[in-house]
Order: sequence, then structure tokens, then C-alpha cells
Amino acid sequence: MANHASVRKAVVPAAGLGTRFLPATKATPKEMLPVVDKPAIQYVVEEAVTAGLDDILFITGRSKRPLEDHFDRNLELEEVLEEKGDHERLASVTASTNLGRIHYVRQGDPLGLGHAVLMAENHVGDEPFAVLLGDDLIDPRDPVLQDMMAVRAEHGGSVVCLMRVPRETISLYGCPAVETTDRDDVVTITDLIEKPPVDEAPSDYAVIGRYLLDPAVFEVLRSTKPGRGGEIQLTDALRVLATMPAEAGGGVHGFVFDGRRYDTGDRLSYLQAVITLATERDDIGPGLRDWLASFVARM
Ligand code: G1P
Repeated sequence: MANHASVRKAVVPAAGLGTRFLPATKATPKEMLPVVDKPAIQYVVEEAVTAGLDDILFITGRSKRPLEDHFDRNLELEEVLEEKGDHERLASVTASTNLGRIHYVRQGDPLGLGHAVLMAENHVGDEPFAVLLGDDLIDPRDPVLQDMMAVRAEHGGSVVCLMRVPRETISLYGCPAVETTDRDDVVTITDLIEKPPVDEAPSDYAVIGRYLLDPAVFEVLRSTKPGRGGEIQLTDALRVLATMPAEAGGGVHGFVFDGRRYDTGDRLSYLQAVITLATERDDIGPGLRDWLASFVARM
């Protein structure tokens, strides 16, 4: 029987070294870099909780302590803000503490995304779960996990989030071969390649860092050999799942997302994400927009 159970747990891999942001990430996890005034990772946890996934497992590594502290209480700070009667800031400090039930497991050897997900097996057990990658920031106004859950409820198996991207950028992503379904925004995935060269890409769909996975993925990951970059790739395990029968937890569908998504994984797109989100804010948006317009006019 295909596993149609609902998804309750989210796994958030956060063990990467953040080398693209050095030296900022020498002593600070890249997940803690602020997007306007909130760490990037908080958006991701809020997204999971909004979708009903209030059991969050972080896969961390060495030097991720600030991340754990961020989702814990800071009694000293709370006391100071309380004394000052600064309730607005106090609420912003306690917001991340009260988000959900947060757990941590360390990855040990950084052997790749697939390996990080395998670390979640003990906590997740035999139920479907979500994986959210911190580098992909989905605009809170365009929630995607609920739509992906609806696809899973219909088809079972696993569901990945896809976006159409310019073909010349496809080598930055996992890329699926797809067949259409009776819905424009849902495709059946028949094959997947991690970061293919442009001329070998089977489609112009990119896998975005949101996955709903059948627990069968753990068994597959255990025997997945290192792939691109010498790392154990989640994409390679999904490729196997795509060809497995539904009774064994196989089958992979793609939900084609057309909402707003920002990439906080490299410097240029990180800056674009910060500016985009800041210009849309009620508090600092108007001032920033005015300044930007005159700044650009001077360039
Ligand atoms: C990872 C995945 C890739 C996916 C991407 C989405 O790559 O391996 O398949 O398309 O996330 O952001 P990374 O960007 O971590 O190298």
C-alpha cells in the first residue's frame, strides 16, 4: 500500500560550512545571516510551522551553536527588555523560541545532502516527512508546502518543488525528466540529474529546496554512492525512488511553483533577496525605495 499518511515532521539540513560567505561565516553559521532583521533560517522554520509541521529537526555540525541559541530562550535579554517595557522587541525575541518543537542531530562527517537527510532517520521513523533547505527562501505570501501536501495526498510517494529556470542556470540545480499529468502544475518525475551540464539537462525545471519524502528514501540513501562533487546526493536517491513501485514507497511527483522564491545561498542573490524583501516592508520599505531610486539615478 502506498503511504498516504500526513506529513508532521520537517528536517532542515544546516551543517554546511557556508564557504561562499567567508569571512562572515568563519564564526557565524550562514543560516544566521540576517535577511533584513531576521536570520534566514527563521523564515524557513516559520514556513514549516505555518504548514503545520511543528516538529523540526535540524541537522547541524560543529560551530552551529548560535543557531541553537537563537531558537532557545535568552533570559537576560528578555529581562532587560521587560524592564524597559519594550514589548515589541521582547515579542520579536521570544517569537523564535516558541515556534515549534525543535530538535538537533549532528551530521559528523559532511558527506552531502543525502547523508544529512539519512541522519534524520531515527527521529523521523516510518512516516513521510518534509525537507526544507535554508538557501531557498520562499516568500511567506506564497506558501508552497500546502500545495505539495495536496499532491502527496493524491499520488502518495514523494513530492519535490520545481520551478522553471533559464536554461543556462540549470547546472546549479537538480533537474528532472518529466511527464505531464492532467494538472498543469503537477508532473510525474521519471528521472533526475544533479546539476547537469546545460546540454544534458532533461528539462528546464529546477528542483527547489522543498521536498516531501516517503520514508522509503532512508533505505535508498543507505546504498546511494557518492555522486556529483563526491557527495551523497539526495537527488540520486530520488532518482531511484522515481522508478520504484508505489507499494515500496516509490513514485516522485513535481509541483510546479510559480510564487516568489529568493536564493540566499550566494552573495549576489542574497543581496537581491534582502533588498527585495526590505523594499516591500511597511516600516523601512518607503525610505529604502526612495533612497534606491536616487542611488540608481546617480549610478
Ligand atoms: C541542493 C540540491 C539540488 C537543488 C538545490 C536547490 O543543491 O542538491 O538538487 O536543486 O539544493 O536549492 P545546493 O544548492 O545545496 O548545492
